[in-house]
Amino acid sequence: MRAIVRDSYGPAGGLSLRAVDRPPIGENDVLVRVRAAAVDPGVWIFMTGRPLAVRLATGLRRPRVAGLGRDLAGVVAEVGAGVTGLRPGDEVYGTCKTGSLAEYAVAPQQRLAPKPANLTFEQAAAVPVSGVTALQSLRVAGVSAGHRVMIIGAGGGIGTFAVQLARASGAAVTGVCSGSKAELVRSLGAGHVIDYTRQEITGGGERYDVVIDTAGNRPLSTLRRTVVERGTIALVGGGHARGRWLGGFQRQMAAPVLSLLGAARVRGVTAREGRRSLEELTPLLESGAVTPVLGATYPLGDAAAAIRELEQGHPTGKIVVTVG
Ligand SMILES: NC(=O)c1ccc[n+]([C@@H]2O[C@H](COP(=O)([O-])OP(=O)(O)OC[C@H]3O[C@@H](n4cnc5c(N)ncnc54)[C@H](OP(=O)(O)O)[C@@H]3O)[C@@H](O)[C@H]2O)c1
Repeated sequence: MRAIVRDSYGPAGGLSLRAVDRPPIGENDVLVRVRAAAVDPGVWIFMTGRPLAVRLATGLRRPRVAGLGRDLAGVVAEVGAGVTGLRPGDEVYGTCKTGSLAEYAVAPQQRLAPKPANLTFEQAAAVPVSGVTALQSLRVAGVSAGHRVMIIGAGGGIGTFAVQLARASGAAVTGVCSGSKAELVRSLGAGHVIDYTRQEITGGGERYDVVIDTAGNRPLSTLRRTVVERGTIALVGGGHARGRWLGGFQRQMAAPVLSLLGAARVRGVTAREGRRSLEELTPLLESGAVTPVLGATYPLGDAAAAIRELEQGHPTGKIVVTVG
């Protein structure tokens, strides 16, 4: 099969499309013929091995897995002996463990769900990491009907799902994004948009019940000034390019302590991808309450370009890779 692989940690220039063996499956694994994949800042982290703490899981000196990419949508090709509920030929979406920027990828069965019937493979591949993170961020923050919610990074991978999910739960949404994405963010359900390149989020003096920060590049003191007394700040983004060891994730880890130091509740989000969250999203996707926003689409051979676009830090919605 053809797959995007690398021999060491480093920039996108170190990626190449090569012929490699199909990955073997374990008892509870599923081999998926990948039709589409997507990239997210986590892919950049696994590619570069930065922040360094990630190497404890992915290999200290060089990556244990040569492949790259987590999100996928495709067709089940083979199942392990312990797999129940999925059969060859089923269309699925979810996350894998061998690299989804490849013609075949291996996923544990509990990380796959049947693909929403109305979505293309490209649309479905956009959902797993970012859609699930958005869903769990809203849950961690306790978003409910009538809440005033500000979503920072509203035009990005997680943000475009978060705006739609918050709106679907009956919240009044303010999206924070650069001006070129304002119309998009409004169309997703934000009643109000702040173009942060013209006005800082504290500029209007508004206070929100919940602030969901996917951009991760503002001081907590700024975020605190935007929430009501006992409002909630959900820290999602760590600012993936910052911090040699922890890349900014130390703030999420410290959230319980930060919560004690001021009036706002501070919650660190650590999303767990899995079938149950995907199955919660599926009816919302099938009803049209949530529609994946695809920014750019690249062929498999141009996966490095997809990651380069991502690392600029300003993608619109999800960047998808068509595998075919
Ligand atoms: N906690 C978790 O479990 C978890 C899970 C997955 C990902 N993450 C992290 O969450 C973060 C966001 O992920 P993502 O997939 O949404 O990234 P993304 O697709 O790259 O989107 C980031 C968005 O932030 C916007 N942005 C950049 N600077 C901004 C600023 N100063 N103010 C407001 N918006 C700004 C960008 O566009 P514009 O500037 O054009 O508006 C872009 O649309 C990353 O750090 C990622 O590592 C966390």
